[in-house]
Amino acid sequence: MTQFINIALPKGRLGEKVYAIFEAVGYGCPSILNNNRKLIFENEENCVRYFWVKPSDVAIYVERGAADLGVAGKDILLEYRPDVYELLDLDVGKCRMCVAAQKGFRDDLDRTLRVATKFSKVAKDFYAGQSREIDIIKLNGSIELAPILGLSDVIVDIVETGTTLRENDLEVVETITGISARLIANKVSHKFKYEEISRLAARVAGYIKEGAMR
Ligand code: PRP
Repeated sequence: MTQFINIALPKGRLGEKVYAIFEAVGYGCPSILNNNRKLIFENEENCVRYFWVKPSDVAIYVERGAADLGVAGKDILLEYRPDVYELLDLDVGKCRMCVAAQKGFRDDLDRTLRVATKFSKVAKDFYAGQSREIDIIKLNGSIELAPILGLSDVIVDIVETGTTLRENDLEVVETITGISARLIANKVSHKFKYEEISRLAARVAGYIKEGAMR
């Protein structure tokens, strides 16, 4: 008997893009496109159930088995290190994790570097690799304000188009790593729904490969 696959999608533009991929490879769920406030949608015909989840929470749902599969940005996976399998790079939601600062910033190695970020762990790991002493200032958004107001020397943040930096007279100092959306799986589900998950992952992988060749 085919088992239902429960998939946590990140609410928002990225989630809609990713849903379009799932739909294109046979895991559509037409009711999901109704513009209402429902959070759970299922299609009995192809045994798929989708949940709209806050992007930074997807990994928690998957790690704890509330969802079998999910789509999370590599930034979230690097920061929270959930105990899940990373099955595929979906090649969407591409951006970079960067160090940025006000234009002309020069690092004074005699002083502790003040780093404002949402990604404390990523920043700590990055500067530990350079043996640079830092002071983390954990913020939850509008990180770009910190160096402008003198709250920090640099920021560690996501850069997509670069518009936010440009409009605030900041610039990239260094790129830490490239980021994209990943298909992740709960470890127990991966064992007990192996066939269903493998079939879905193979179809998505094929679709992405075709797209890359177009
Ligand atoms: C993210 C990130 C940057 C911005 C980068 O913020 O923190 O501020 O997007 O995008 P850009 O390079 O295309 O300008 P988000 O929109 O998630 O809001 P936030 O301020 O809550 O972090």
